[in-house]
Amino acid sequence: ARRMTVTTLRGKHDRGEPISMVTAYDYSSVVHVDSAGVDVVLVGDSAAMVAHGHDNTLPVSLDIMLQHCRAVVRGAPRPLVVGDLPFGSYESSPAQAVESAVRLMKEGGVDAVKMEGGAARAIVDAGIAVMGHVGLTPQAISVLGGFRAQGKTVDGALKVVEAALVLQDAGCFAVVLECVPAPVAPAATAALQIPTIGVGAGPLCSGQALVYHDLLGMFQSPEHSKVTPKYGKQFGDVGAAIGMALAEYRQQVEARAFPDADHTPYKISSVDVDAFA
Ligand code: KIV
Ligand code: NA
Repeated sequence: ARRMTVTTLRGKHDRGEPISMVTAYDYSSVVHVDSAGVDVVLVGDSAAMVAHGHDNTLPVSLDIMLQHCRAVVRGAPRPLVVGDLPFGSYESSPAQAVESAVRLMKEGGVDAVKMEGGAARAIVDAGIAVMGHVGLTPQAISVLGGFRAQGKTVDGALKVVEAALVLQDAGCFAVVLECVPAPVAPAATAALQIPTIGVGAGPLCSGQALVYHDLLGMFQSPEHSKVTPKYGKQFGDVGAAIGMALAEYRQQVEARAFPDADHTPYKISSVDVDAFA
């Protein structure tokens, strides 16, 4: 099927059709996202947490993000692929932001970039489509004091909506609203012409996003999951399925039940087996 573009995305938004976005970090995961017909794949800096096991998104480098982007692009011919600008790759100056965004495009092969603030306009002026991100911006945990909902006061809510409007004026094609309470998402969505993509922002957004591992229930125990937000609905129990398959494999190897004759590329005689037993 034809690749999604910012134009086809705008078309969906104009027709009032919700936009779906999911994160992905590698080839074997994103092929499922592609087949499912999801509109947008975000190579999120949440890779730091779900793919690398860090406690927050700060440690992931632009070079590591580039590796994830290249792997994702190879498995996602259909959706729009957005690459997240990681912490430290865009804050110093508009020139640094443009340089990093250009690398995500040229070396990472993505269609657009996302950033949690900074020089969106300079990147758009360089000819690169930008997705904004307001509300809880995890790269700012140092000043936010942790992963906590933003826009809970009237003043805070206004700040979130204003930040989204600034991003629209800067030329962003969409904006992520992360972890904001009830009145913020509809207020922002009504104020903006560009689509709002909610994650923990309630139903009144132009689209929704979830982290791949949260959506699928990839982790079997809470201590393995670095994210697991309370708003994240689990649409599958994939972690349990993986765990059962692996335990079954180990058990069959230990019982010499695998491989059996059907999974052996040559005939085995009982004499061969006896020699090992
Ligand atoms: O990195 C990420 O996964 C994100 C989404 C939560 C929007 O930024
Ligand atoms: Na992110």
